[in-house]
Amino acid sequence: MNIRTGVQDGVATIEIARPEKKNALTVAMYQAMADALAAAREDAAVRAVLITGQPGVFTSGNDIEDFMSRPPGQGSDGMDSPVFRFMRALLDCDKPVVAAVTGAAIGIGTTMLLHCDFVYVSDEARLAMPFVGLGLVPEFGSSLVVPQLMGSRRAAEMLLLGEPFTPEQAVECGIANAVLPAGEVVNHARRVAQRFNTLPPGAVRESKRLMNAPQRELLLQTIATEGALFAKRLRSPEAMEAFQAFFQKRKPDFSRF
Ligand code: COA
Repeated sequence: MNIRTGVQDGVATIEIARPEKKNALTVAMYQAMADALAAAREDAAVRAVLITGQPGVFTSGNDIEDFMSRPPGQGSDGMDSPVFRFMRALLDCDKPVVAAVTGAAIGIGTTMLLHCDFVYVSDEARLAMPFVGLGLVPEFGSSLVVPQLMGSRRAAEMLLLGEPFTPEQAVECGIANAVLPAGEVVNHARRVAQRFNTLPPGAVRESKRLMNAPQRELLLQTIATEGALFAKRLRSPEAMEAFQAFFQKRKPDFSRF
């Protein structure tokens, strides 16, 4: 299985494990991650969730082959798709979620970090949201949250140019808490998650809810608007050119659009 899950010492771990495809996320993997988050929420023994990847790669984002052959549907149909179920479960998780970014975090690999509570990045990590270059648009609230976090100038670099960010830049612009040596990032993140074993879970839960409440409605509205556009753009000629170029290992050519 490409998603490994387990509960130990109060921490539910979700490990993305598809190294041969740089941890690209398929429909089945989103489904497994959504289920794991739902189970963690229900399990009273779980005090926090840890999301991690493989040495050198967190995730290269949505599987581009899936984007071409099984794009999430449009409208209400799209909102039921596994990727939406996963992201909604992350947004609704009332326990702290800690991410250990073990390497490249591309596309939804970075987007999901915006909705985690703690983010620790390996000194080998690179973060990027190359949606525009793929003929797509930002997703899951990133068009709202990224400019809020880092200001519109740097957000334009990340979202419009799709520029990759170093681990240090990720900390500086507020996406991550700290940079750790590659060999230490998972253990560090796990230790942070385990600190919730000695804190009162009710107070943690209510505090997390309070922190997210002020813009929850706006966030959900933004996600719906972005999702509809994203689904439409997945079927656009620009996106088709970008996906084909990726698999043909060439630069996309947008000159005819
Ligand atoms: N979807 C599907 N397959 C992917 C993938 C993705 N998102 N990312 C990587 N792969 C596959 C490659 O096609 C390649 O498969 P192959 O061995 O059958 O040719 C394999 O994983 C290894 O990838 P490769 O690109 O050779 O590794 P790399 O170390 O040179 O680069 C990345 C790693 C992550 C920088 C690069 O793979 C990449 O940019 N991936 C696409 C990321 C992306 O645009 N994601 C956004 C989706 S919204």
